[in-house]
Formats: sequence, structure tokens, C-alpha cells
Amino acid sequence: MDLVRENELVVLSSEQLITGFDCGNDDLNDFFNHDAIKYRRQKLAETWFFRHNTTKQAVCAFSLSPDSIKAMWLPGSRRKKIKEFIPRDKPLSSYPAFLIGRLGVSAEFANRGMGSQLLRFIKQFCDINYTSFCRFLLVEAYNEPSVLNFYLKNDFNFVFSTEEQERDYYKRANISEPLRTRIMFYDMIHWENQ
Ligand SMILES: CC(C)(COP(=O)(O)OP(=O)(O)OC[C@H]1O[C@@H](n2cnc3c(N)ncnc32)[C@H](O)[C@@H]1OP(=O)(O)O)[C@@H](O)C(=O)NCCC(=O)NCCS
Repeated sequence: MDLVRENELVVLSSEQLITGFDCGNDDLNDFFNHDAIKYRRQKLAETWFFRHNTTKQAVCAFSLSPDSIKAMWLPGSRRKKIKEFIPRDKPLSSYPAFLIGRLGVSAEFANRGMGSQLLRFIKQFCDINYTSFCRFLLVEAYNEPSVLNFYLKNDFNFVFSTEEQERDYYKRANISEPLRTRIMFYDMIHWENQ
């Protein structure tokens, strides 16, 4: 399915809510079906969804919030990685970003390239709407091989090279269970140069 041609992009609002969305993850379903509107009212995140032209069913959805990468707090090697394509004469302690707070594809359409089309759409959307102040896209990806691979396949990279480094950063070094999420980034300069 062609995401943009066969679906309509809708901004979630009181008049245009998502109902019956099921991406196979209860937390995300709950967010899109119930909480997204509360986040909007609280000015915490904006949510969009693609609605199928004929069935009117929500095919996929995502939310965005302004964010930043605090490069000054990162370990040296990771700071270098983040700043790899930033001119040396433009050093900032913090770089503007947008956080993909939530993202899901209806289970009915999973593994058919919809998620990858959606990420390409989000890159283009941010490039057009936030041209001069969205250097990075960030996502707190579920720490599961299929999800991490999905973002890697779509040119996202890990902010921290290891889970251990990420734990240290969040001062969770003494917690032994695996991290629930891994923070990943995409440098929007690559999109502009495409
Ligand atoms: C993670 C998620 C967004 C991926 O969406 P998706 O539409 O399945 O993603 P894609 O189809 O683009 O890519 C996933 C797989 O489909 C395969 N694929 C891509 N295009 C394809 C096509 N045209 N035909 C068949 N398979 C295809 C890819 O090879 C990929 O498989 P891989 O794991 O071997 O790399 C979706 O599974 C989802 O909503 N999951 C639940 C919520 C979630 O985990 N969200 C992420 C929050 S961080």
C-alpha cells in the first residue's frame, strides 16, 4: 500500500480521534485510542494518523514533541558521533531535535513496509515544517531486536553505543534488568542532502 496516496493524513483533535487502533502493543494502543488527546490538551505532544481513503480505518499513527540532544553531557566518543556532520565552528551544548514519542502501524498492515514509509514521511514532514530547527529525530525504541532493527534499517543510530553506557547516563547503573528502551537518533542533514 502506498501510504501517502491511499491514505489521508489527519491531525488528532477532539473532532478527529483515533478509535479501534491495534498495533499489537497495549501501551501504544492505549495512547493512540485514549491518551493522545490528553497529551495534546496538556501541550505535551501532537499526534497524527493516516486514515485509509475508503475504509476510514487508522493505518498508522505517530506523535512528536520538541526535544534536544544535550551533547555536552554525552561520553566523548558519542558526542563525536552526534556532531559528525556538524561544522566544527558551530559547537552547541544542545542540538534541536524532535522526539517521535509514539509510533505504531496497525497489526493488519505489519511487515509490509508501512513503518518504513511512515519514517520516511516523518523525515520529510519535519524537513518541510521545521526546516531550520530540527537537526535530529529521536526515538526511545523498545529494546527488542525487531524494533531496534526496524529503526537501524531506516538509518537511525544508537545515541549510546552500549546499554551499559546508556544506564550510566541515566544513573541506573545499579539496576540489573535490561533497559526497556534504547534512545536512537537520525541526523536530518542526511535527509536535506538526499
Ligand atoms: C515496529 C513497527 C512500527 C514496524 O512497522 P512495519 O510496518 O511492520 O515495518 P516495516 O514493514 O517497514 O519493516 C518491518 C519488516 O518488514 C519487512 N518489510 C519491509 N518492507 C516490506 C515489504 N514491502 N514487503 C514485505 N516485507 C517488508 C522488513 O524487511 C522488516 O523486516 P526485518 O525485521 O527483517 O527488517 C510495527 O511493527 C509496530 O507498530 N509495532 C508495535 C509498536 C512498536 O513496537 N512501535 C515502535 C515503538 S518504538
